[in-house]
Amino acid sequence: MAPRKIIIDTDPGQDDAVAILLALASPEDVDVLGITTVAGNVPLDLTSKNARIICELSGKVDVPIYAGCDRPLGRDLVTAEHVHGKTGLDGPDLPDPTLQLQDGHAVDFIIDTLRNEAPGTVTLCPLGPLTNIATALTRAPDIAEHVQQIVLMGGAYFEVGNITPTAEFNIYVDPQAADIVFKSGIDIVVMPLDVTHKALVTKSRNDAFRALGTSVGVAVAQMTDFFERFDKEKYGSTGAPLHDPCVTAYLIRPDLFTGRHINVEIETESELTLGMTVADWWGVTDRARNATFIGDLDSDGFFALLTERLGRL
Ligand code: BDR
Ligand code: CA
Repeated sequence: MAPRKIIIDTDPGQDDAVAILLALASPEDVDVLGITTVAGNVPLDLTSKNARIICELSGKVDVPIYAGCDRPLGRDLVTAEHVHGKTGLDGPDLPDPTLQLQDGHAVDFIIDTLRNEAPGTVTLCPLGPLTNIATALTRAPDIAEHVQQIVLMGGAYFEVGNITPTAEFNIYVDPQAADIVFKSGIDIVVMPLDVTHKALVTKSRNDAFRALGTSVGVAVAQMTDFFERFDKEKYGSTGAPLHDPCVTAYLIRPDLFTGRHINVEIETESELTLGMTVADWWGVTDRARNATFIGDLDSDGFFALLTERLGRL
């Protein structure tokens, strides 16, 4: 089967970085048409810099990188330096990138690329707030039919929230954008905290990254080392949840994941529960199903895939 064409929309972020590396290491499965950056974990200038650092680290410098929206659609930007550090990519000491951003805006790249590809052939992989994707869909509704699927990291049901008691970070930062995407009619697969909190780096999994002995393996071990201090303190977990790599792993090995096709709506008004993903997991409403909400994964299989693929870079 030909590799699946994808656009990665991202706010790196250590876990975004690992997701990108996994995709770049898997050319037989995914063809990365481009990487678009968005403000999220840290402001746009830093997410755009971090995306370039990661591509250089991978040695795959021919993937075009475009900077996108620097703030959410209708509210001020909320960032997550408390999780990812000041740079967004704290942990390893990686060189400043020499790779340049492409001219032009990420939203134009998304629109133009989709229009140039056959209907139903491009998968969008949002790993951060959905601002770029919602802006593209609003500005050019015709692109929806060119999208094969949106596989995104965001939301939570059983795990409820990580940035507020009821909201996951990516959805909370731009609930209005998320609402547009979830109402788009496009086939959506969601990697909520319910599954990503099961993709936990343990000491032996971290050791396996480091034991690759490559600059990628060591950097990934250092990134997950840094990233995990926050979750260990907060949840008492053994290590860091690799949220965003669930998206790219799903493209390569969907059989590692299980979920339900359900209705998911986004709370856009309530101050108390802003950004909540109201997921009808138990089918208690007759609201139309609009997303496959993933709930579980084979975590050993996931880490085996990740380690094997990262070892190629
Ligand atoms: C999501 O928020 C960010 O901090 C991570 O990169 C991930 O995309 C998890 O809530
Ligand atoms: Ca992210």
